[in-house]
Amino acid sequence: MAERRVDPDDGVAYTWEEFSAFYKGKYKRNAVEEYWEECEPVKKSKAKDKAKGTGKGEPKAKAKAKVKAEPKAKAKAKAKARKPPGAFKVCVCGGAGGIGQPLSMFMALDPNVKELSVFDLDIAMVPPAGVAADLGHLDKKSEVKGYEVKVGKPAVTELDAECLKGCSLVLIPAGMPRKPGMTRDDLFKVNADIAKGLVEACAKHCPEAILALIVNPVNSIVPAMAELYKKKGLDPLKIVGVTTLDCVRASKFVGQITGKNPNFINVPVIGGHAGVTIMPVFSQDKTAASIDQDKIEALDKRVQEAGTEVVDAKNGKGSATLSMGYAGARLGRSILAGLAGRRRVECAYVKSDITDLPYFTSKVVFGESGVQKVLPIGELNKYETARLEEAKKALKTEIETGLKFAEANELNC
Ligand code: NAD
Ligand code: LMR
Repeated sequence: MAERRVDPDDGVAYTWEEFSAFYKGKYKRNAVEEYWEECEPVKKSKAKDKAKGTGKGEPKAKAKAKVKAEPKAKAKAKAKARKPPGAFKVCVCGGAGGIGQPLSMFMALDPNVKELSVFDLDIAMVPPAGVAADLGHLDKKSEVKGYEVKVGKPAVTELDAECLKGCSLVLIPAGMPRKPGMTRDDLFKVNADIAKGLVEACAKHCPEAILALIVNPVNSIVPAMAELYKKKGLDPLKIVGVTTLDCVRASKFVGQITGKNPNFINVPVIGGHAGVTIMPVFSQDKTAASIDQDKIEALDKRVQEAGTEVVDAKNGKGSATLSMGYAGARLGRSILAGLAGRRRVECAYVKSDITDLPYFTSKVVFGESGVQKVLPIGELNKYETARLEEAKKALKTEIETGLKFAEANELNC
């Protein structure tokens, strides 16, 4: 008999066939598959069995018939009525920059966004008020406002509190990008100070918001900011490192090699976001797992070096901005969907206890409270098991850089 799992959204048990038919057309198949993985099998939980109203007394056949009998259109309408789009306020810090502009645009298009703050410095390439005026003409419900602070002035005192007040999500691409020949690590000194200034302002004005840090080096800046949050008595899991671009790239490159549509490829990328710490787990995606092992090492290397590929191609004029805007918005949309009650799974770099390192990228369930659950790595093959050790060794040092920064500093707010 087909396995049934309880959809936590409505407490009803479905077979995969029913479940996937219900969500078909609304979400990508891989997203539906991820969500299915989150649902508890019926046999394991009597309590949940009761919740769906098809417990002991009711024959299973009837329950099945009941779900099947529900016309598709009605089922879809029901889903819509159950979860209206959210009405969240979002801020993009560095919103007039290379990543900030496309990211702001994608966020302004998200039906879960009611208000968008575009915040940048007075030296930005475009005044943030200009970016806001431009995005404010999109025929979407989001209201877009621009905010500016003079370079060198602390955001915590100089930024109009309205910018951050009430925000549920703050996306932070503010910071210097690499030039050819530089490592992400080379950016730590300057970017850690920028990030601290912004995190300080968030701690003061929107301490409940999720802070999604894009600024590099993610591997060190995220532990630094999360530990500073902890020192301040705030929740370190509000700080989320954005590594989505690695997943986007891994899926794209697998699509190129296999000739399959990357929309249906979902390669988890674990570890961190620099060099060997970027660890695609090809064996966990059906299409990627079909690639011959002798091609995997080169593919793995290409994902690790993809950022440098763009830095070199831009020839001193910046790093990935458009693909990052897209990837950052994918994570941003998932976080908002989670806050609105539609859980999503994305890889992200967060405080974690799934390995012996205190920070690690793995699949994370985003829900009503933000980071709902940090998922374990899952099964690895022999090649990946060896790679994990290599990734952890490099990541450990980069985490330590962040921890030292947090020890030596505190949030002034
Ligand atoms: P950019 O220079 O084009 O834009 C950065 C923006 O941040 C500028 O507009 C600048 O004025 C603004 N800014 C700087 N300090 C600020 C402050 N204190 N407050 C508000 N705004 C401030 O750079 P970019 O290409 O957008 O890259 C931004 C960062 O993102 C870099 O550190 C880059 O390495 C990183 N990045 C990360 C990923 C990732 O996958 N996590 C991918 C690409 C780039
Ligand atoms: C990327 O992966 O594109 C970013 O981390 C930017 C960079 O410096 O490579």
